[in-house]
Amino acid sequence: MKTDIRNRKDIELLVNTFYDKIKTDAVIGFLFTEIAKVNWEIHLPRMYDFWENILFFTGNYNGSPMQVHKDLHNKYPMKPEHFEHWVILFTKTVDELFEGEKATEIKERALNIANVIMYKSLS
Ligand code: HEM
Repeated sequence: MKTDIRNRKDIELLVNTFYDKIKTDAVIGFLFTEIAKVNWEIHLPRMYDFWENILFFTGNYNGSPMQVHKDLHNKYPMKPEHFEHWVILFTKTVDELFEGEKATEIKERALNIANVIMYKSLS
């Protein structure tokens, strides 16, 4: 039986599984691997902090996601389809691994943040 997202370990599993899919994804993988050339050793822990702060209010994330995606958009013009695909992959990954209140919450927050990032990056 699936559990809810309970702690940082669970977030690490979710984030690692998600970016494993992203790295080889036919629609948006190249944005990470070829355009941004992401350093995963830095990016993954940053994403653990980001989501842990959102779900459990740890206060340990202090980046600027809006600017990062604006910069990426300047390098390669992204489309709403890219963001929609990101949300589908993220939702799918959550559903594969977890169920419960926090699992529902993280999917809702991801969708909302994706819309804000998309609006701010693409406009
Ligand atoms: C098409 C969709 C997206 C693409 C292609 C994308 C790509 C990227 C890239 C390339 C980075 C920089 C990694 C690096 O440091 O080198 C990044 C950072 C980040 N992304 Fe996204 N992203 C997308 C959507 C999202 C969404 C929907 C969220 C949140 C729900 C998100 C949250 C973040 C955060 C928190 C960071 C770290 C920013 C920082 O503190 O430096 N991204 N993303």
